[in-house]
Amino acid sequence: MAVAVSFFFLFLYFSLFFENGEVEANQRVFLCPQSPKVNSIVSKQYRTAYHFQPPKNWINDPNGPMYYKGIYHLFYQYNPNGSLWGNIIWAHSVSTDLINWIRLEPALERTTPSDNNGCWSGSTTILARDRPVVLYTGIDSNNREVQNIAYPVNLTDPYLRKWTKPTYNPLIQPVGDLNSTEFRDPTTGWVGKDGLWRIAVGAELGGKGAAILYKSIDFVHWIRAKDPLHSSSASGVWECPDFYLAVADGDGGETKYVLKMSLRETLMDYYMLGKYDKERDIFVPNNAANDYRLWGRIDFGNFYASKSFFDSQKHRRILFAWSNESDSASDDVAKGWAGIHTIPRTVWLDSSGKQLLQWPIEEVESLRTDEVHLQDIELNTGAVSEVRELKKASQADVEAEFELHSLERAEPLDPNWLLDPQKLCEEQSASAPGGVGPFGLLLLASDDLVEHTAVYFRVYRSQNNYMVLMCSDQRRSSLRPGLYKPTYGGFLDVVDLQKERRISLRTLIDHSVIESFGGGGRGCITARVYPEALCTGSTHLHAFNNGSTTVKILTLKAWNMRKAKINEN
Ligand SMILES: *[C@@H]1O[C@H](CO)[C@@H](O)[C@H](O)[C@H]1NC(C)=O
Ligand SMILES: *[C@@H]1O[C@H](CO)[C@@H](O)[C@H](O)[C@H]1NC(C)=O
Ligand SMILES: *[C@@H]1O[C@H](CO)[C@@H](O)[C@H](O)[C@H]1NC(C)=O
Ligand SMILES: *[C@@H]1O[C@H](CO)[C@@H](O)[C@H](O)[C@H]1NC(C)=O
Ligand SMILES: *[C@@H]1O[C@H](CO)[C@@H](O)[C@H](O)[C@H]1NC(C)=O
Repeated sequence: MAVAVSFFFLFLYFSLFFENGEVEANQRVFLCPQSPKVNSIVSKQYRTAYHFQPPKNWINDPNGPMYYKGIYHLFYQYNPNGSLWGNIIWAHSVSTDLINWIRLEPALERTTPSDNNGCWSGSTTILARDRPVVLYTGIDSNNREVQNIAYPVNLTDPYLRKWTKPTYNPLIQPVGDLNSTEFRDPTTGWVGKDGLWRIAVGAELGGKGAAILYKSIDFVHWIRAKDPLHSSSASGVWECPDFYLAVADGDGGETKYVLKMSLRETLMDYYMLGKYDKERDIFVPNNAANDYRLWGRIDFGNFYASKSFFDSQKHRRILFAWSNESDSASDDVAKGWAGIHTIPRTVWLDSSGKQLLQWPIEEVESLRTDEVHLQDIELNTGAVSEVRELKKASQADVEAEFELHSLERAEPLDPNWLLDPQKLCEEQSASAPGGVGPFGLLLLASDDLVEHTAVYFRVYRSQNNYMVLMCSDQRRSSLRPGLYKPTYGGFLDVVDLQKERRISLRTLIDHSVIESFGGGGRGCITARVYPEALCTGSTHLHAFNNGSTTVKILTLKAWNMRKAKINEN
């Protein structure tokens, strides 16, 4: 046995060594299990099976997603030379279902004076006569952020493999009051009342976060508008702005514009809903709170630089985002990869018109297998109930609907909590007793439950309503030292909670990522975790309740997920 085991480790050691050829001589790569020195992080168990990632190296923002002549395109920020940030270019993959992806040659490399220090984020726009173009931020030879254009070389190539940059780049330079190191990430273009094209570029303007508006007749010559599309003194630079019309649930539903921004200072994505005043060419938010803690959140967890596109094939808006590692830089060097993208989500407006809803695209359901279906499980105070029927709890999709026996014991809400739900989740953990909740799921749990990630709800009573706190607590997710293990959380506005007394939770589990959708997509939390149990043994799924009110699982469906073919070529 011992011989077999060490032979096995030796084999893994060499396969690792040869695979990336980058393991340095002085860097001892240990494999799991056992001693505290064990470097389990290089275990293949932490790579995802159905989330987007390249075979190796660093990735960050999704760029320029589009649907063009039957093919979905996704570009992304990529370091061809290692698993830390640097040397950034646009890598390129294509798909017909947004789940399985084929890797192509890079679309944009650092080849011209206007991008030789980096090809940073941007968008695609499909111009008249079906001509797609890319706008992206180049870091020029003076380290200024400039906006460039690129065109497909051969429009009859269905994969649009080759892209070319005209010599008239850059199109837009950081002049006047623009700070040349805070000026990036052009949006997809749209056409205004006057027939001219518009784009917005993320910036910092006199200390305010801003989306600067530009207009053009030909997509080449751009003139800055008098006013930004929107700006706010609540934060510094806005990255990766995204501006679009969201269509509401149901027939004849209201439509509203969405302005999404990624705040560099918090590294989280926010959004505002509002009107687009086409006369003045400005976005007018419904609620322009001068405190970003009161803005909408796309996701409460590890989720940044999201980017959406309109899928003209299925008439839906789809959103991608980057989720970075929560291990250390040296871990990333050891494992040879860093960063994944979240499962594409459809995004639309809630029928109340007050918030966005998000749900994993239906295509991900094609990976489901081995359905487990449970019903009517009562969870009394202190209950922990394992879903034993699920064979592989580390590669799964779980949908649970909880019914609350009553709301009588809901604790009163302190309005100050609304400003910092993340802290509230930290204090009101899964083991802090409550009135209604905490109840939810324990994910990627070790045999003895010492390791687990708790995703749970607690219900509070506000003046004439109930507020649902949704949390994802990573503090016990892994015994491995040196990891970033935060608690994430936010409040959900669950309609009709009083009448229905039901809250749903959908969770996509894929080795080192857990993506959770509460209240039918009213709140989303993405988390990155690295349980030791993943590589030393097996992991489990449990439901639990630590509130004094009994909670019933009306239904719980769970599936194992097949591996998707992602950039394997
Ligand atoms: C790749 O990384 C090495 C080591 O950091 C560096 O010397 C080299 O210039 C990089 N190559 C490119 C193409 O960026
Ligand atoms: C353009 O792409 C088509 C389809 O892949 C190919 O047949 C054709 O040879 C390409 N043309 C050029 C000039 O590369
Ligand atoms: C421009 O932005 C950089 C940060 O990227 C900051 O250090 C610098 O002070 C800014 N310059 C001005 C003139 O505001
Ligand atoms: C990435 O990971 C670190 C933890 O290592 C975290 O503090 C940071 O906010 C993360 N997010 C982004 C967008 O870099
Ligand atoms: C429930 O609360 C008890 C008492 O605080 C604690 O021991 C237990 O671990 C909690 N359950 C979960 C799932 O956190």
